[in-house]
Amino acid sequence: MPNAISGFSKLSKSEKIEWLLGAYFKDKDSARTLIKQYWNSDEKLQKLHDEFIENTISNYYLPLGVAPNFLINKTLYSIPMAIEESSVVAAASKAAKFWLDRGGFKAEVFSTEKIGQVHFTYHGKLKDLQVFFEAVKPLLFKESSSITKNMEKRGGGILDIELKDKTNSLENYYQLHATFETLDAMGANFINSCLEQFANTFKREAEQHLDKKLDIVMSILSNYVPQCLVRAEVACPITELTSKDIKNPQLFAEKFKQAVNIAEVEPHRAVTHNKGIMNGIDAVVLATGNDFRAIEAGVHAYAARNGQYASLTHCSIENDTFKFWIEIPLALGTVGGLTSLHPLVKFALELLGKPSAKELMQIVAVAGLAQNFAAVKSLTTTGIQEGHMKMHLMNILNQFEATHQEKEQLIKHFKTNVVTHSAVLDAIENLRS
Ligand code: MEV
Repeated sequence: MPNAISGFSKLSKSEKIEWLLGAYFKDKDSARTLIKQYWNSDEKLQKLHDEFIENTISNYYLPLGVAPNFLINKTLYSIPMAIEESSVVAAASKAAKFWLDRGGFKAEVFSTEKIGQVHFTYHGKLKDLQVFFEAVKPLLFKESSSITKNMEKRGGGILDIELKDKTNSLENYYQLHATFETLDAMGANFINSCLEQFANTFKREAEQHLDKKLDIVMSILSNYVPQCLVRAEVACPITELTSKDIKNPQLFAEKFKQAVNIAEVEPHRAVTHNKGIMNGIDAVVLATGNDFRAIEAGVHAYAARNGQYASLTHCSIENDTFKFWIEIPLALGTVGGLTSLHPLVKFALELLGKPSAKELMQIVAVAGLAQNFAAVKSLTTTGIQEGHMKMHLMNILNQFEATHQEKEQLIKHFKTNVVTHSAVLDAIENLRS
């Protein structure tokens, strides 16, 4: 076991790598070569990446793919997706093409409100706290005006601050629950700066005007934003649900709806169903430089808002019309954060026509809906493995270090044969013997 190290972050990049190689690697030369192979030859670009985080030793690549032909509110998009899973971009593209011929996707943003909280304890009477809060509330706005003035000029800012009594859940626990409009910014830094200013003002004033002890526990935005909500939908006459895999449109529509209904009532299925949705959502969120962990946490909390984890998509069949939709909270930004720093994020946003945050919410929701449509369509017709393994074939071939010529021959072979790991191994052995 290597010894613990102190001052690691102060070492140069090369010193860090040498320490790691000495402590953990048998073949130091290969490990060093590998790490350096992923450095960008453009030193300025590499430095930019090095400075995104602490202790950078190299870059970790994900493929950036594009799913074209997404018609959303009558605009045609090619959607950038950063993801490692082989079948995701292909599935999104297939779903986009399917709905392109049937009127495309409609999407609508309902609201864009963000939330932040100052969590505190108070050991006195609720009434005294309420009176104090009302008196101090204007000061909370006033003393954060240096933080909010630019956002206000653009039409955003603090929407409201409420006092919440949480003592039923936890003794002496209260909140300042604040709502914000952050326009095209995701707004995390703006919100957290406002909250910390509220906390300072609130604590200082409490010391002067309240008899009993008030302690700030923490100030932080919430990634649960049920009032930052977007809806995307597709609809068409059932008779138009035709494709190579769909033998009977009416039966397909009913079975598809049944599959969605199962995910609405059965948490084990709902988690996998929603995972498929997040395949699309995360890939676009990542490509556009947004925080996919925040999105994941908020979306899953929303999926469980009624007390049981459930599907994020829904389906109806009414008067011979098939309708399929998603409703999700998405706090996204198209300015600030990585959006003006990471060159590929800038590229992705330009590819999308420099969208506003609201437009990006619509695009991301559509990517999730399309992904879910493709998955449930496969699951209820051919089964998922056919398409999935076809896309995974290249990974297996690469695992066995197939040559270009072998790849060509085997791809041809598996156009008419079922792809499994062992079938590919047999086919390679056959070819090589
Ligand atoms: C795989 O990444 C995603 C699926 O499992 C989603 C689903 O089951 O709906 C195919």
